[in-house]
Amino acid sequence: MVEYKILIQNLDSYTKSHSERVSDYAVLLGKKVGLSDEDLEKLKIGALCHDLGKSKIPNYILEKETKLTDSEFIEIKKHPYFGVTLLEENSNFKDIVPIIKYHHEKYDGTGYPNNLVGENIPYLARITAIADCFDAMISKRTYKDSMSVENIIEEFNNCKGTQFDPTLTDAFLDILKNNFDSIKKIQENFK
Ligand SMILES: [Fe+2]
Repeated sequence: MVEYKILIQNLDSYTKSHSERVSDYAVLLGKKVGLSDEDLEKLKIGALCHDLGKSKIPNYILEKETKLTDSEFIEIKKHPYFGVTLLEENSNFKDIVPIIKYHHEKYDGTGYPNNLVGENIPYLARITAIADCFDAMISKRTYKDSMSVENIIEEFNNCKGTQFDPTLTDAFLDILKNNFDSIKKIQENFK
């Protein structure tokens, strides 16, 4: 992973560590659903780079602790596109570009940037979306506490089939309920 960390060096410190954790959580879920080694490698790098485009978003928006205005939200929603533009010229990254582009799509078609529905959303992007939201839920920020595991389980149950791929959600719920030690192990690396 060390050699890929250079890709996210321009990100703010929170987004950088968030990206590393999302990559680890995504690989954990990817292994659980039996991805090939080749796909696990793509997932690892793609999830690490999922928010790469945030380096082009003004810091005052990224660091804002209160609700974003409509125009600030429009601005932040451009980060998947910015991430793609940073990598698309390099053909080595062609397999990870869809992860960056579509990690904010939702299973029911209400996500962005393309309102993709269900299995039209690339599989590795659907895995990354779960890992991304999990890290946001479990992370403590200056403006919010971390959510309890019980509440996170409830949230994933509520969003199964709407925001998230239902089969992948079940696999992640199984990790949360029966193998939380594997999550803890990842968290230990960031203490
Ligand atoms: Fe994002």
